[in-house]
Amino acid sequence: MSAASSWWRSAVVYQVYLRSFADGNGDGVGDLTGLRARIPYLVDLGVDAIWLNPWYRSPMRDGGYDVADYRQIDPRFGTLADAESFVADAHAAGLRVVVDLVPNHTSSDHDWFAEAVAAGPGAPARERYHFRAGRGVDGAEPPTDWPSVFGGPAWSRLADGEWYLHLFDPSQPDLNWSHPDVIVEFEEILRFWLDRGIDGFRVDVAHGLVKDPHYTDLAGRSPHVDVSAETGHPYWDRDELHDIARRWRAVLDDYDDRMMVAEASVHATRRPLYVRPDEFHQAFDFDLLAADWNAKQFAEVIRHAVAATAAVGSTPTWVLSNHDVMRHATRYGLPNGVDTRSWAVEGPHELLDAARGARRARAAALIELALPGSAYLYQGDELGLPEVWDLPVEVLDDPVWVRSGGKEKGRDGCRVPIPWTPDRPSFGFSTGTAWLPQPDAFGEHSVARQLADATSTLALYRRALATRRLLLDDDEQLEVMDGPADVLRFRRSRGFTCIANMGDDPVVLPPGDVVLGSVEIGDDRRLPPDEAVWLR
Ligand code: BGC
Repeated sequence: MSAASSWWRSAVVYQVYLRSFADGNGDGVGDLTGLRARIPYLVDLGVDAIWLNPWYRSPMRDGGYDVADYRQIDPRFGTLADAESFVADAHAAGLRVVVDLVPNHTSSDHDWFAEAVAAGPGAPARERYHFRAGRGVDGAEPPTDWPSVFGGPAWSRLADGEWYLHLFDPSQPDLNWSHPDVIVEFEEILRFWLDRGIDGFRVDVAHGLVKDPHYTDLAGRSPHVDVSAETGHPYWDRDELHDIARRWRAVLDDYDDRMMVAEASVHATRRPLYVRPDEFHQAFDFDLLAADWNAKQFAEVIRHAVAATAAVGSTPTWVLSNHDVMRHATRYGLPNGVDTRSWAVEGPHELLDAARGARRARAAALIELALPGSAYLYQGDELGLPEVWDLPVEVLDDPVWVRSGGKEKGRDGCRVPIPWTPDRPSFGFSTGTAWLPQPDAFGEHSVARQLADATSTLALYRRALATRRLLLDDDEQLEVMDGPADVLRFRRSRGFTCIANMGDDPVVLPPGDVVLGSVEIGDDRRLPPDEAVWLR
C-alpha cells in the first residue's frame, strides 16, 4: 500500500448531519449550499475529511436512511450538480469526502419495492427483498419472532397477505443479499459515486446484510448483536457477509486512495474480521462511546482496539458521539449506568450535572485526539453541544418515538441544528425556522461566541487538531501506562504523553512541558478531576 492510499489511517473525519448543519436557502433544512459556504470553517477547524449522512432522494422517514434513489440527491439538500460542486470545493480545500452507503434496506418508496408490492405474492420481483408467508391461522402471525431495532415486530403484512422484513422501520424493507440484482446494483452504485470523486463510504448496518436462509427464530437469543460474541445469529454478524465486503473492496481497489468504514455494531472480538486486508479499511469502534467515565474501562478499550486492528493491518477508529446517541457532553454529566435512551422521556433531571459533563467532554476530546488511528467527530462536538433532551414530543421526527410506544424519545436531541451566531431566530443556521427547535442556551455555544473566546471548547479543538497534525500525524505507536487508578495515561513516540484525571481528587503531573490542557495548569502542576493534558 502506498503512502498516498493510507490517508484514512489517521484521518480526523468530521461527520456532517446535512439537514442540521447549515441551511443555504432559508427553508429551515440544512443543504449543500449551506455546507459549501462552511468549508472554510472546517478547514480552519483542522479536520481531514467530511463524512455526510445520507444525501440521497428519500421520504426521510428515518432521516434519509430510507433511500428511494441511490443516484439522486434529495431535493431538500440540492441537486447532483450541487453535490459535484461540493466535492470539487472540498477537494480544492484539501478535504476528503466520505458518503453514507445504505445497503441493508431501501425505502419503501424505492422503485424495486413498488414493483415488488405491485407484482403480488410469489412474483420474482419480491425476491429482491424478504417476503414470506406468515405463521398461524391464515398466516396472521409474523414469519419469525425477530423484533425491529426501532421497536415492534420486524415484519409487516401487506393487504395481499404476505409479510416483508424490516429490521428497522416498516418504511425500510430489507434487501435480499443473496439476489444477484442486489449484488450487481450496489457495485454499480459504488462506481457511480467513485467516478464522481467520492473518497470513501461509511457503510450502514454492515453487520446485518445477510439473513439466515431458513429464517430461524431468535428463540431466546439476544436481538442485540453487540452483547456477545456468539455466532450463527439469524441476522447479525453472519459469516457470509464478508463475501460482500470482499466484492466491494475489489471495486474500490480499482480506484486510487478510496476507503470504506463499516458500521459494524459487533462484539469487540469479532470486529477485526471486518477489517481484514481484503475487506473494509476500518470498522467503527463504539466501545469508547459505550464506556463509563472510568480510567480502567478507557484503558482496556484502547489497549484492545489498538492491538486488534494492528493484527489485521488496520487502525482504530474513535467515536464519542454521532447522530444515533446522546451527545457526550450530556452523557458524561449523568451518573454511570443511566439508560440514556429512555432517560430523556421524563424530566426535569436532577441526575444531570451539566457543568461536569461539559468539563469531561473537553477532557475526552484531548483523549480521543491523542490516540493513534482515526477520530470521527460529530458536528457540534467541537462546540461542546449538549443533548437537547427536552424537545417537545410534538416535534419529534425519529421513528423510534412512535415505534417504542413513547418509551424512548429517540435520536432527535443530538440532531438539533448547529448554532453559528448568538442570535435568534435560528442562531445563524437558517434565515427561516429551523426544522427542530434550538434551545436558548445554543446562543452561548455558537461558533461566533466561541471564536471570540480563547478558552472555548472550539478553541481547544482547533489547537488540539493543529497540534495533532504537527506531532502525531504518522505516529501509530502507543503505550497505555499503568499508574494510579482513576488516571488514564498513555504515551506516543517522541515523548508525547496524554494524562486524564477521571477520579475525584487532583493529581500532580509528572515532569514535562504542558503542550495543551483542557484547563489552565498552575505552578503547582495539579490536574483537577475531569480534566486532561498533553505533555511532552
Ligand atoms: C444509522 C441510523 C439508522 C439505521 C438504519 C444506523 O445504524 O446510523 O441512523 O437509523 O442505521 O438505517
